[in-house]
Amino acid sequence: MARHLITSAIPYINGIKHLGNLVGSQLPADLYARYLRGRGHEVLFLCATDEHGTPAELAAAKAKMPVAEYCAEMHGVQAEIAKGFRLSFDHFGRSSSARNHKLTQHFAGRLHEAGLIREVSEKQMYSHADGRFLPDRYIEGTCPNCGFDSARGDQCDNCTKQLDPVDLINPHSTISGSTDLEMRETKHLYLRQSTLKDQLEAWIDSKKDWPILTTSIAKKWLNDGDGLQDRGITRDLDWGIPVRDGEKDWPGMEGKVFYVWFDAPIEYIACSQEWVDAGKGDNWERWWRTDKGAEDVTYTQFMGKDNVPFHTLSFPATILGSGEPWKLVDYIKSFNYLNYDGGQFSTSRGRGVFMDQALEILPADYWRWWLLSHAPESSDSEFTWDNFQASVNKDLADVLGNFVSRITKFCRSKFGEVVPEGGAYGEQEEALIADLAARVAAYQGTMDAMEVRKSSAELRAIWVAGNEYLQSAAPWSTFKEDPEKAAMQVRLGLGLIRLYAVLSAPFIPDASATMLKAMNAEGAGWPDDVAGFLAGLAAGHAFTVPDVLFAKITDEQREDWQTRFAGVRT
Ligand code: 2FM
Ligand code: ZN
Repeated sequence: MARHLITSAIPYINGIKHLGNLVGSQLPADLYARYLRGRGHEVLFLCATDEHGTPAELAAAKAKMPVAEYCAEMHGVQAEIAKGFRLSFDHFGRSSSARNHKLTQHFAGRLHEAGLIREVSEKQMYSHADGRFLPDRYIEGTCPNCGFDSARGDQCDNCTKQLDPVDLINPHSTISGSTDLEMRETKHLYLRQSTLKDQLEAWIDSKKDWPILTTSIAKKWLNDGDGLQDRGITRDLDWGIPVRDGEKDWPGMEGKVFYVWFDAPIEYIACSQEWVDAGKGDNWERWWRTDKGAEDVTYTQFMGKDNVPFHTLSFPATILGSGEPWKLVDYIKSFNYLNYDGGQFSTSRGRGVFMDQALEILPADYWRWWLLSHAPESSDSEFTWDNFQASVNKDLADVLGNFVSRITKFCRSKFGEVVPEGGAYGEQEEALIADLAARVAAYQGTMDAMEVRKSSAELRAIWVAGNEYLQSAAPWSTFKEDPEKAAMQVRLGLGLIRLYAVLSAPFIPDASATMLKAMNAEGAGWPDDVAGFLAGLAAGHAFTVPDVLFAKITDEQREDWQTRFAGVRT
């Protein structure tokens, strides 16, 4: 049994996330966590809310709430929605936790001691109209790299380049719109990433199995222009983690906080401490400290492509620079973007379907299936209502749902709600079982490799194989001449339901639970041996006919939703 640490990028606190955010990190991370647990591994799956920085301040101001109160409330909202989507976090933490404050200050102290922090007196945008220094996100302008006209002060959403506000062409304040900006003197801390460049590059080069998307972005920023740049890790803001040198004051840094991207990834570690504090675990160090057992841990991170530079360069720089034996990530699974009906999902513009809205119209499994089977892995992908309807109706209702319903109802009508006895497998059954064993192995292969789309295709092929068997074996015809043979066919069919329930659980956990309950087989483990697993549902075992697993999406519903979500959310 291996130990797997899994983290999903931690979503910003500023409102409810859209389906594009969900499929880019939390959902595939959940898929993987559920799969590994299903296979008997020990898993620690962590996520949290990213509560600092200007997005939080801006959103709280908009909601007319004190920022701490706003964050507490929104954390609750996000936690509830995560439950609705059945995201199986072992803990859903908060980057504003006392644990993260302490750990972030600790890392800063260690980096300082190692000579990896520079104090820089610099000029920063001060807005006369707003009466304050403007942090990155309060400034927008044209990207010097690609010319995108709404690049933010910290990063260009179009080309993913990490920016400093002074790089922007034609900057303006997003609070007041004012262009009356002045450069004023202020002191900040910089992390000397450039000193760590060779170490980081060697580490990234050693990761031969990483997705191209991950390594290409990392390499791009390692070798961009003059190479890896030092990064400012402090900001002139009230809300955030006060700058301290470990446990000591940091002279000259009073009233300043750490940059949100400095403390957010440290929350991955702090979250495991919160998990212990919450009484859900008893030892976080064996997951994070290589001197305390974490050398056996496989650590996988999930994120959208815009997060890759911070996870391949900045956070590893913090970890390596600390000189302490913290666990580094082993594998970074990154995603492209999901688009919405001919354009982009957008939180700021309220475009697309948001997580709360999705759950208002359909249960989690419908969304999970579509999103995962269309995950933007090798390129961006697009959500359209037509495609959603087609995929739900075909894969879930026609293929899987129909199979379960036909076989259980037929059995009930001819043999009662109990696995029938009699008959022996013939050639057709042997062939099906051999085929399924090969397919299950292929499914495991793609799941182990975190190939999300391919895994969904393998799973679907497994469902289809059962359907085709049922169609050609046709126990309803066999029953007339040879009831014993029909009993054997039905027994195998019922065994397939239990098999599907276990294999499908990472994708559609609710339907899987319904199937297992109906089959009276809740504790079923992973089918390492498919033939043995199928034979495991023995004659005489009681079951019940479940309710319809998946309702079809009607054309009327589709049109209705299409219209309802065509505009922007206000
Ligand atoms: O892009 C985002 O939503 C960020 N809040 C992700 C942070 S991930 C990590 F650093 F914790
Ligand atoms: Zn750009």
